[in-house]
Order: sequence, then C-alpha cells, then structure tokens
Amino acid sequence: MLPRDRNLTKFHTMRVARTLTDLRSAVADLRASHHPVALVPTMGALHDGHRALVRAAVTSGAAVVTSIFVNPLQFGAAEDLSRYPRDEAGDLSTLEACGCALAWLPDAETMYPHGDATTVSVTGPAENWEGAARPGHFRGVATVCAKLFGQVRPDRAYFGEKDWQQLQVVRRIESDLHLPLSIVPVATIREPDGLALSSRNRFLSESERARAPLLYSVLTGTARLLVDGRNAEGPLHEARERLTNAGFDVNYFALVDGPTLVEIPSTRPGARLIAAAGIGSVRLIDNVAA
Ligand code: PAJ
Repeated sequence: MLPRDRNLTKFHTMRVARTLTDLRSAVADLRASHHPVALVPTMGALHDGHRALVRAAVTSGAAVVTSIFVNPLQFGAAEDLSRYPRDEAGDLSTLEACGCALAWLPDAETMYPHGDATTVSVTGPAENWEGAARPGHFRGVATVCAKLFGQVRPDRAYFGEKDWQQLQVVRRIESDLHLPLSIVPVATIREPDGLALSSRNRFLSESERARAPLLYSVLTGTARLLVDGRNAEGPLHEARERLTNAGFDVNYFALVDGPTLVEIPSTRPGARLIAAAGIGSVRLIDNVAA
C-alpha cells in the first residue's frame, strides 16, 4: 500500500543510530523531509511518562529523535549507575510503536571521547534542592544535554515536568547560551493512584509501593491550602510531618518560584511545590503547581 504522504514514509520504519556518522546521515534524511526535528532525551527503561514526551513530539508534526544514554556524569559516587535499569530491545519497540523516527543510542566512548574537559555548569536554578542533594548531578545533565543538542541540532526538545528543576535548568541553558531550539514541557504522567511514573518505582517493595502515592496526595492537599500572600510555613510543616509519620525520609518539601527555584514565603502565580523523600532505598521526587 502506498502511503499518502511520501514524507511520512521516511518515518515509517524507525532507524537506529549508534555512531555519530550514522546519526548525522539519519538526521540529514529527516531534515530533507522538511519536518521540524524534535529531540526527546532519555536514559531508557521507557515507561508511559517517556511515551507521553515522544507522542507529544510526534503529534506536533516533528520528525522525532529519541536518545537513550545512561549518562555516567550525572550519577554521584554513592549512586549506583550499574543498578540503573536497562531494556534496549523493549525500548526500541516502544519507540517504534510511538512513531519515533530515529533512536540515538550512543555509548560512553562516543559521548565522552576525550573525557570531560569541557562541561556545562549552571548556577541559579541548579543550586538548591536536587542540586544540593546530588552534587554534580546537574553538571552531568547540562553537559549531556548540550552534547545531544549539538549532535542532533533539534528545532525543539521535550522534557517532563516530573523533573521540574531539570526542566528549568535546561530552559536556563537554552536562554543563557542562546541555543537555537525551544524547550517544550510535558505534564507528569501518573499511576491511577497518583504516583508519578519513574523507572525507580520498580525498586519499591509492595508495602512501600502502597505508601508511595502519599507524596502526591500531600503535595496536592498542601497546594489547596495555600493562599496568595499568606505565609506557607504552617501547611509546609504539616506536610513534612505527615510524610515523616508515614515513614518517609523527607529531604525537602518546599514552595518555590517555578522558573528560578528560589524559595518563597507564600504562594503567587507561577509558584511550585517541590518535594523529595526517601521510602526504603528509593528516593521519590515530585512537584505540583501551587
Ligand atoms: P529520564 O529519567 O529517562 O527521563 C527522560 C525524560 O522523561 C525527562 O524529561 C523526564 O522529566 C521525563 N519523565 C520521566 N518520568 C516522567 C513522567 N512520569 N511524566 C512525564 N515525564 C516524565 O531525565 C533524564 O532521563 C536525564 O536526566 C536526561 C534529561 C535524559 C539527561 O541524561
């Protein structure tokens, strides 16, 4: 059967690139189709949250490139890079089913051929919260994103609101470095009980999994209690207590200005409630508009 739009035939079968040479030729073919090129950076072990990013990019009419690279530079010394889940075959069939045009699967040698003499370090929105809990993490994220942007040269790149601070850090890189692409946010995809999808959820025991949705319910419950101009400390204190009493190890539960991540005393337009809390060996992060 002949496809109606010849341009779409190019994306009918997903291509896979593992070297920069293959990537360049595949991206050149996508560009020749006159579709905008969209990049979805991931670390694989794809779930419905990642799928939502790829689908949003496909629906926008772009030729979609999804990268899968478990980036060693963003893992701390105490964090187990080797424990990070990997499922290349499953990921490739997921991407193909979502309409992804090209999967970019570089290895560490391709991404860091000369080590890491050049890195991108961001202050401002990268300093607190995840930045404080995971020293060097955002330097790793910023560096790998800058490399991916340079390799693929996408017109736009998709990031999940699930990692709110990461999204703001990437936006800041784009604006500070005048990068010729736009950053597109995608809303957090959740389990029916509210738990944000994450590749780390598989490490929750049955009883931890049963308690995990409390993080989102306390976030939304607290957001409802906040009133413009009224000090948020009372509701924030109660929220931390509820989580601690339920066995969470609360790392932070804070009200911040959305784009800058600066802590604010009371809610206002664009405010965000952000939280990180350990449950068992898993560190959950989540956030809601406040
Ligand atoms: P990873 O954790 O694989 O996430 C890839 C993208 O999927 C990120 O933009 C993340 O915010 C988004 N995502 C994850 N869970 C989501 C959910 N439940 N709903 C919506 N979006 C979700 O984040 C990274 O990889 C890395 O730091 C990366 C940006 C790829 C750089 O290495």
